[in-house]
Amino acid sequence: MHSLFICLIFSSLINSCLCAQVLQITDFHFDKDYDQYGDITNFCHKSANDPPREDIGKFGNYHCDSPEALVKNAVQNAKNNIPNPDFILWTGDNVPHIEGYNEDYVINALNFSTSLLNSTFPTTQIIPTFGNHDYAPANAFPDNYSNIYTRTYDLWKDWIGSDAKDTFLKGGYYKFSFKNATFLVLNTNIYFRFNTANLTNPDDPADQFKFMADTLEDAKNKNQIIHVIAHIAPGVYERSPNFTWMFPEHNQKFVDITLKYASVIKWMIFAHHHSDTFHVLKNGSDPVQLMLMCPAVTTWYSDLSGGSSNNPAFRIIEYDDQTWDYTDIKTYYVNLLDLNKNPSINWTLEYSFKNDYNLTQINAQTMNDLLQRMKVDDNLFYQYMMYNSVGWSTQIPEGDLRLGQLCSIEYPDYPGYNKCMTNGTTVDF
Ligand SMILES: *[C@@H]1O[C@H](CO)[C@@H](O)[C@H](O)[C@H]1NC(C)=O
Ligand SMILES: *[C@@H]1O[C@H](CO)[C@@H](O)[C@H](O)[C@H]1NC(C)=O
Ligand SMILES: *[C@@H]1O[C@H](CO)[C@@H](O)[C@H](O)[C@H]1NC(C)=O
Ligand SMILES: *[C@@H]1O[C@H](CO)[C@@H](O)[C@H](O)[C@H]1NC(C)=O
Ligand SMILES: *[C@@H]1O[C@H](CO)[C@@H](O)[C@H](O)[C@H]1NC(C)=O
Ligand SMILES: *[C@@H]1O[C@H](CO)[C@@H](O)[C@H](O)[C@H]1NC(C)=O
Ligand SMILES: *[C@@H]1O[C@H](CO)[C@@H](O)[C@H](O)[C@H]1NC(C)=O
Ligand SMILES: *[C@@H]1O[C@H](CO)[C@@H](O)[C@H](O)[C@H]1NC(C)=O
Ligand SMILES: *[C@@H]1O[C@H](CO)[C@@H](O)[C@H](O)[C@H]1NC(C)=O
Ligand SMILES: *[C@@H]1O[C@H](CO)[C@@H](O)[C@H](O)[C@H]1NC(C)=O
Ligand SMILES: [Zn+2]
Ligand SMILES: [Zn+2]
Repeated sequence: MHSLFICLIFSSLINSCLCAQVLQITDFHFDKDYDQYGDITNFCHKSANDPPREDIGKFGNYHCDSPEALVKNAVQNAKNNIPNPDFILWTGDNVPHIEGYNEDYVINALNFSTSLLNSTFPTTQIIPTFGNHDYAPANAFPDNYSNIYTRTYDLWKDWIGSDAKDTFLKGGYYKFSFKNATFLVLNTNIYFRFNTANLTNPDDPADQFKFMADTLEDAKNKNQIIHVIAHIAPGVYERSPNFTWMFPEHNQKFVDITLKYASVIKWMIFAHHHSDTFHVLKNGSDPVQLMLMCPAVTTWYSDLSGGSSNNPAFRIIEYDDQTWDYTDIKTYYVNLLDLNKNPSINWTLEYSFKNDYNLTQINAQTMNDLLQRMKVDDNLFYQYMMYNSVGWSTQIPEGDLRLGQLCSIEYPDYPGYNKCMTNGTTVDF
């Protein structure tokens, strides 16, 4: 009895919370036409009359999107590292960066990922969302019903339930209750400034902002916890100075609502960058909200700002079952070149927020402290930059590229970001 009691005390000291684990996996950009002997200047596709080419990689190539082998390897390695997650956040972009595909192509790509996740994690709750590529044509998400919303709802209804139906059919977004939290799963692709759909209500497409604010107001009154999950985050692409995602007025609205309800929103989890970064949202100088961007499975090369890629990654988020506080965030990865050389290697832990950033708590305050140290500590900034591309690049950005990283983290609102970029002097070079 006595020794059991001591044992319990010890185990509670070692594992000081009732930790639960969540998998986040994102941006597969599965390209069914990837070819191991394909043309890296043409999406790694192979055409009928192409000359013979050298092996560019069974599991992918940094210039291209994911072959089936990479997506399956990613999901299998996720399963090996976290066999029974509490739930899975799957945050969009399943269609490759090609052009000229139709609605069926999108549904097939979505169905491929849906079936793979469902068969690999048959008993796990999965919380899915659209990415900006999950439409035909890409970036054309409407705000008043569409076939793709309806057909995707049919694919996902066993996960997201019939309560999600009305908003999902109208605008591809929904709320979802899990344990004692509510997930606000938003289709921020509608706010993407490259979105070409003719919106019926440009001020509040699909009434999504109203839904967001109403849900948060309700949660505030009932003292409930809300997590916001979406593909595209507000703010600026950290790897390309001044390159914004959302229309300015939508970005501002999103930030305003987030600020107003900062005390109600617990997690804010996004994807789309393909890189590993975060934003801290402040009320004046007071950090009140943390937004996390998870790196991608695809290694697709972006030619913005001189070009960048990343190694394939997924993330395990650990949290306290009682409070929903993060207890650790762990990124797993594989070096694509190594995987192509040795198909049996395992994905491994790249880093842990807790152990590698030395954080006992992970929230807006502690991540803002980290940011402030990053500005003056070159080693720490270098460490962040290594994680930013999941070890793809060892270069340390300078000048505007460095400032772009730091201002993106600190200012998810455009006016703040622009001031930060002009100011420049906030960064002690
Ligand atoms: C989705 O894929 C599964 C497994 O390949 C298949 O059985 C099913 O018919 C597909 N559904 C749709 C809607 O394409
Ligand atoms: C939105 O779609 C509904 C259902 O298809 C239709 O009745 C309505 O006219 C549409 N609204 C606008 C503004 O296009
Ligand atoms: C997952 O697979 C089960 C068993 O085959 C099936 O009943 C269910 O509809 C699938 N769910 C999704 C979201 O595909
Ligand atoms: C939006 O409207 C314009 C003008 O009517 C039209 O040319 C364009 O094709 C529409 N875009 C979409 C995605 O339907
Ligand atoms: C921002 O801070 C001010 C001053 O402390 C406070 O009065 C206000 O309520 C805060 N706003 C939000 C949205 O938290
Ligand atoms: C959520 O549930 C946990 C475990 O049942 C409980 O300890 C905690 O107080 C709840 N939190 C809220 C905000 O309801
Ligand atoms: C890779 O992971 C599998 C499953 O977890 C394990 O059985 C195997 O030993 C690992 N291989 C290496 C080389 O670590
Ligand atoms: C974490 O602590 C270790 C050991 O004290 C130190 O070497 C390392 O630089 C610290 N890292 C950060 C990001 O503070
Ligand atoms: C601009 O620089 C000054 C002086 O370093 C600093 O106090 C201020 O916070 C900076 N403003 C922004 C928006 O970064
Ligand atoms: C970004 O914007 C700032 C402020 O307007 C400007 O000084 C800078 O030259 C811009 N950088 C790039 C790469 O466009
Ligand atoms: Zn993507
Ligand atoms: Zn995207």
